[in-house]
Amino acid sequence: MAITIEKLSDAAGAAISGLDLTNPLSSEDTDALTKAWHDHMVLLLRGQELTEDEQERFCRVFGEIAGLKSTKSDSKFLFVTNKEDPKLATAVQLGEMMFHYDQAYSEHPCKASTLYSIEVPDVGGNTCFANCCAVYDQLNDDWKERLENKTALNYFNYDTNPSLRPDEVDPNAPQFSHPVIRTHPVTGRKSIYVNRLMSIRINEVDREESDEILDYLFDLIESPQNVYEHVWQAHDLVLWDNRCTAHARKHYDPEKRRLLRRMTILDENPVA
Ligand code: SIN
Repeated sequence: MAITIEKLSDAAGAAISGLDLTNPLSSEDTDALTKAWHDHMVLLLRGQELTEDEQERFCRVFGEIAGLKSTKSDSKFLFVTNKEDPKLATAVQLGEMMFHYDQAYSEHPCKASTLYSIEVPDVGGNTCFANCCAVYDQLNDDWKERLENKTALNYFNYDTNPSLRPDEVDPNAPQFSHPVIRTHPVTGRKSIYVNRLMSIRINEVDREESDEILDYLFDLIESPQNVYEHVWQAHDLVLWDNRCTAHARKHYDPEKRRLLRRMTILDENPVA
């Protein structure tokens, strides 16, 4: 069966059909998928009933697997859920989570992330993906010049509420500074690499100017023209480019179980 690629929104995303990921991919399908990923940043494959091994085989099309940073588990999968399961490496996350790049607080954030939906609430808990190359393209020349050679401190404290920006930086929590403008190593497109959850300040300017710059960029990243909002069904597999796509989770009823299986892919290139 031929693979078909259908745009999901003007901002980002494409639905791929004609593939059954319980079987290995042909080299033609691998090439088509890789090109679609670079073109659309977010890929959706619906109706895939996948084992962990099958999700891993799909991820390996795009690179080496990034293990979990947790010392509590040697699993390569993280279960993003609102109900703790002692048998699984779970990240218990309730409700909303602001826009972020996975692992932006570390020196080597992953290149790509996948989420596979096992159980989802009937309403809410959508995941939004922002095209941050489009954000860069929408800046005028003065803004582009202003952001050139700027870096931002990215920070995340797992013990705090991911729907609020932190008031203070705990020196013991993970943090790393990255350039505000990032160039994609394959497409050559520039993108804006800051996010509301983790980017605390612009290092080279004073606090007031830093807040002004970040507020402007966060609003642009989150403006509807730049966002694809994904409404989950069970057995969706979503892959996104974590180098140029920020993502966020919307509110949902914490009484309704939400269980997604996440696997991430190592970036062989440094951020800068
Ligand atoms: C994540 O940010 O890794 C999870 C996103 C989601 O739960 O929708």
